[in-house]
Amino acid sequence: MSFTLPTYPQGFAHHTLHFTPAEQASLIEAVRLGANQAPFFQPTMPRTGAPLSVVMSNFGPLGWVTDKEGGYRYQSTHPITGADWPALPKMLLDLWHAVTDYPAPPEACLINWYREGSKMGLHVDNDENDLGAPVVSVSLGDPAMFRLGGPKRGGVTHGIKLFSGDVVVLAGDARLCYHGVSKIFYGQSALITKGGRINLTMRRVNTP
Ligand code: SIN
Ligand code: FE2
Repeated sequence: MSFTLPTYPQGFAHHTLHFTPAEQASLIEAVRLGANQAPFFQPTMPRTGAPLSVVMSNFGPLGWVTDKEGGYRYQSTHPITGADWPALPKMLLDLWHAVTDYPAPPEACLINWYREGSKMGLHVDNDENDLGAPVVSVSLGDPAMFRLGGPKRGGVTHGIKLFSGDVVVLAGDARLCYHGVSKIFYGQSALITKGGRINLTMRRVNTP
């Protein structure tokens, strides 16, 4: 019998169960506190105004937002309250430095909350000025089917199931590869009281 292991793009890393269940609970508590200050908002697509299936908030000096009028962008304030985003929790800053060799901290941490039926279409993260900086993400709560393709739209994609506590790094060639979330295995984790999956995505926006 012979089989071929999938070859992922250079620079992709999947650290399974990087965070223990106790650490995952601390991160969810940090998200809960952050959302008291910067409530989850409903992002909408540029031009059409169609709602995304996730709701969002952010930690850090910059947050990623999108709406019909302004499109995809980073800004230092919450789109509804106008307040600054809460600071990035130390656990997340420590993670960034543990899994990357980037010489400066991340500026933004997007909080995506996936509920029943939420998905994220295939896309490339390219709203940052420094596209050489890695992207680091943490999965919490229900498992998800992450899809990772190549640098061109329409190519083959690998399915990688992400569980609570997993960390994904998109660096090197993988940084500009298409990726998305095709399915949430809703109701499988009890970590999040209101259910679903939280994904925390740290990014550097500006070259240091
Ligand atoms: C994203 O790429 O925007 C989110 C990825 C994830 O939820 O795992
Ligand atoms: Fe992304």
